[in-house]
Amino acid sequence: MDSVHPSDLQIVSTWANTVEGDLIDAGCGPGHWTNFLATQGLTARGIDQVPEFIAHARRTFPTAEFASGSLDSLEADSGSVGGILAWYSLIHYEPSAIQTPLREFNRVLKPAGTLLIGFFAGSVVDEFAHAVTPAYRWTVDAISSELEHAGFDVLESHVRRTANQRPQATLIARRARQSDG
Ligand SMILES: C[S@@+](CC[C@H](N)C(=O)[O-])C[C@H]1O[C@@H](n2cnc3c(N)ncnc32)[C@H](O)[C@@H]1O
Repeated sequence: MDSVHPSDLQIVSTWANTVEGDLIDAGCGPGHWTNFLATQGLTARGIDQVPEFIAHARRTFPTAEFASGSLDSLEADSGSVGGILAWYSLIHYEPSAIQTPLREFNRVLKPAGTLLIGFFAGSVVDEFAHAVTPAYRWTVDAISSELEHAGFDVLESHVRRTANQRPQATLIARRARQSDG
């Protein structure tokens, strides 16, 4: 976790310690957060749609659990998951499509289960060029409004501004009710 900013590590650790039950690292990529959660004694499963990431994660962290899958349709029973980490994995969704994963997260979380999102923040919601596919930055207000629409209460958010970097944000939300529709 050497490349992770200390404040991100603190936010994820503090949140993870509040989670009761299993965790999903949704869009785990190379799997370092899944492994970190597992090393904290938590039951965590990393999910990613790119099979190469899952294969790489399994090789790098052989004791952690990984599976291929989509954030739009998680292999988990309704109300069965304590917490979901979506660390920069929602950034590639077009804003008009963000309700799909948020409602899916709402479905699988237990009542009062929580979601921690990492994302790029901006003063408007807009697209920018990212390594492989386009990505979107969000305002905290806009993503909060989407979360509320999907049945969450927003508990806290933080924005970190560093010179010559895109502002980076974290937001924690709690499943408040079943999402409509
Ligand atoms: C920017 S990377 C972040 C990876 C990891 N969370 C990290 O912090 O290093 C975004 C990841 O989300 C995954 N992802 C994006 N959309 C997804 C979807 N609909 N279903 C599953 N994984 C998805 C991508 O494959 C990619 O691994």
